Amino acid sequence: MKKLKFKNGDQLDAIGLGTWKSKKGKVTDAVKIALNNGYKHIDCAATYGNEAEVGAAFAEVFKNGKIKREDIWVTSKLWNNAHLKDDVIPALKETLKDLKLDYLDLYLIHWPVAFKPDAKNPKGADDFLSLEEAPIIETWEALIEAKKQGLVRHIGVSNFSKEKLKDLISKTDEIPEMNQVELHPYLQQNELLEFCSKHGIHLTAYSPLGSGDRPDGMKADDEPSLLENPVIKKIAKKHGASEGQILINWSMQRGTAVIPKSTNEGRIKENLMSAGFQLDEDDLREIAGLDKHFRYVNGKFFELEGNSYSNIYDE
Ligand code: A2P
Repeated sequence: MKKLKFKNGDQLDAIGLGTWKSKKGKVTDAVKIALNNGYKHIDCAATYGNEAEVGAAFAEVFKNGKIKREDIWVTSKLWNNAHLKDDVIPALKETLKDLKLDYLDLYLIHWPVAFKPDAKNPKGADDFLSLEEAPIIETWEALIEAKKQGLVRHIGVSNFSKEKLKDLISKTDEIPEMNQVELHPYLQQNELLEFCSKHGIHLTAYSPLGSGDRPDGMKADDEPSLLENPVIKKIAKKHGASEGQILINWSMQRGTAVIPKSTNEGRIKENLMSAGFQLDEDDLREIAGLDKHFRYVNGKFFELEGNSYSNIYDE
């Protein structure tokens, strides 16, 4: 398994299990299957609404004794309604309680957007805090404090553009160690990848398979399928691999972590087996040609008239 290395010597398995959209009734088994079949990296978030069920899997697996807490890497994310500096550590502690852990390996600011504390899912611009009310640097400083307290080993961000990273870096000595963003052949993010590698920031690719199980309200009628793309299908056939494995392998070959979500036993195992072949130059050239700047998860829904967030992606 390819690994991402951190400055303190910690290593992260490139392939992790995603849990966004994993149903409460299925995610406990999915995480148990993953851990018992060699996954060492689980990606979570408070807003996925299933951390208690993920935590039940951790508790059960650790109780069996074969896998220990320190053998695995758990990431979680701070939701947008807990950005105020005094709200960060309580939100983190809630996540730790749900996951039944006493520390996280990695904690991320989920979006560069702040909601009012009582607005989990804002209905209008009034439900947001402004950048003056909740400066991102203050949220970041609270994550630094969480690290000092030993509640998390590493800290980072998610859904940050190059500009937003630059701004944060200019205000702190503690550079984020990770930026988790949507990343796949239709959204290759080459510029961001280059910027992050120059600054020693790792990337994690979310929605690597096109997130086909998003709620209908989040889908465009004519959105392109990654798994059914003819180039991906052709390359899969050539390597005797599945389309999912090609997409996961491609992310790994670019040096990023990648977190395919599945609650299906066969696909959980299949996804972990994505490293068993090498994409050649022809494959990489063809996949490079698929980039079309298409997002499955469009954070522009946070851009409301009258709030502070007019340009999430700075583009
Ligand atoms: P399931 O959970 O039933 O396996 P993403 O990680 O981009 O959000 O995509 C998740 C979606 O892709 C889910 O619908 C998941 O369904 C499906 N999926 C996961 N692994 C594979 C695979 N190897 N091949 C096809 N679909 C997959």
